[in-house]
Parts: sequence; C-alpha cells; structure tokens
Amino acid sequence: MNKIVYDSYEQMSRAAAEIIIEQQTQKPDSVLGLATGSTPMGMYRALVDAHHAGRVDFFRAVTFNLDEYYRIPKNNTHSYHYYMEHNLFRHVNIRRKNTHIPDGDTDDVDAECARYDGLIQVHGGIDLQVLGIGANGHIGFNEPGQQLFTKTHLVKLTDKTIQDNAKFFDRIEDVPRYAITMGMGTIMQVKKIILLISGRNKAAIFKKIMRDEITTDIPASLLQIHGDVTVLLDKEAA
Ligand code: GLP
Repeated sequence: MNKIVYDSYEQMSRAAAEIIIEQQTQKPDSVLGLATGSTPMGMYRALVDAHHAGRVDFFRAVTFNLDEYYRIPKNNTHSYHYYMEHNLFRHVNIRRKNTHIPDGDTDDVDAECARYDGLIQVHGGIDLQVLGIGANGHIGFNEPGQQLFTKTHLVKLTDKTIQDNAKFFDRIEDVPRYAITMGMGTIMQVKKIILLISGRNKAAIFKKIMRDEITTDIPASLLQIHGDVTVLLDKEAA
C-alpha cells in the first residue's frame, strides 16, 4: 500500500478530491464507490468547490455507497442517504438515478443485498473506491470477527462502532444496531482504492494495518493484498 502523509486534514481532503477529479476527467462515466463518516466530509467540500469552479463534472458518474444503517428510513437525518444528499449530491450535477445506496428500510434484506450486488455488476464494477476506517479496523461496516463476508449483507454492529458513531446521534441508544454493507469481496474487486485516515484516534489502527500480516480481526488489513491502494493520512494519524 502506498501512503502519503499530509500536514493537515484540509490538505489530505483536497488531495483526495483531486484524485476523484482526475478520475472523472479521464473517465466521465466512472463508477465511484463512496464512503460516509466524518473523515470524507472535507473531501466532499473540496469536490463541491471544484464543481462550482467548473473543474469537475458528475453528469455521467455512477456512485455506489458502501453502506447504510438498518433499520432507518432514507429521510432520517442520520441515514447515509441524507448524509450523501447534503454533503455532495445536491451540490453537484450528478443524476439521482445514477446514485446508489443500500435501502436501510427494506423488509426483504436478502433481496436488497442481491439487488445491490447485481447493480454493481451491471455497471462493470467500481473504478475508484473511497474508504474511511473504523478505529477497530472496519471498512464499510465489515466488522472484525472470525469470518468476513464477500457480498453485500446485514451486519450487527460491534459495541465499539456503536460507541464511535454515537457522536452523530443525540443518545447512544439511538444508534442503529445493524447495517447493510458491501462485502469484502466487492471491495477487494474494485480497480483502485483511496483510504483516508485522519486524527490521533486512528493512529493505532493505521499502524496495525501497515503490519506485515492480514487478519479478519482487522478487516482493513486485507487491503494489503489489493494491488492499487493509496492511503492518504494527516500528520495526527501518521
Ligand atoms: C463508519 C462508516 C465507515 C467509516 C467509519 C469511520 O461507521 N460505516 O465507512 O469509514 O465508520 O468513520 P469516521 O470517519 O467518522 O471516523
């Protein structure tokens, strides 16, 4: 894995945005894999600025988000649908029909997961995937455990993830206990990955994923066997 350390969160965010801009310039109909959480917010701000400056066009882009809480309606302010709408989609010229996020309010989870994987396949897979990382090493919502799953699936969130994500909710009791996430197989098949890591609280996990070993206890450690991963991190995480 290549790594690039930036002096600040802002610089890291702008560098990540530039990679997406370059991707869109080279291939205007790129299939982009998108992430949520606090880490990519600066990158989305930089992309919106670049779009307003006429530097990037999303009209032909197709997007697939990594995950969504379960069970949560799309219009809930904590949903990742809401996050994407407010942090990116409504500020750029992407067509809503080209944006995809798992339906966190479905009655039929299995059918929804199969539909999502099928759609990614129909679009020929993901060209560029943006990833953040949980402090426990999760990517998407693929949590540490004895086994990891290849395809999109329902996952029970760990206590650590519930605690970490409580920052977005009024009360920890409000954090959903489940999520639908793209599987590790889908992530490992994307053509190119950028992994963003920011802040002192991510320094320990960054160190662990750079160790010369892979383990299901640290899902992000599998990225070591992907051929095209660039880790962008700020000084605090490094
Ligand atoms: C969330 C998301 C991940 C994200 C991670 C880190 O739960 N499912 O995709 O990368 O946790 O979030 P943050 O950037 O807020 O630390």
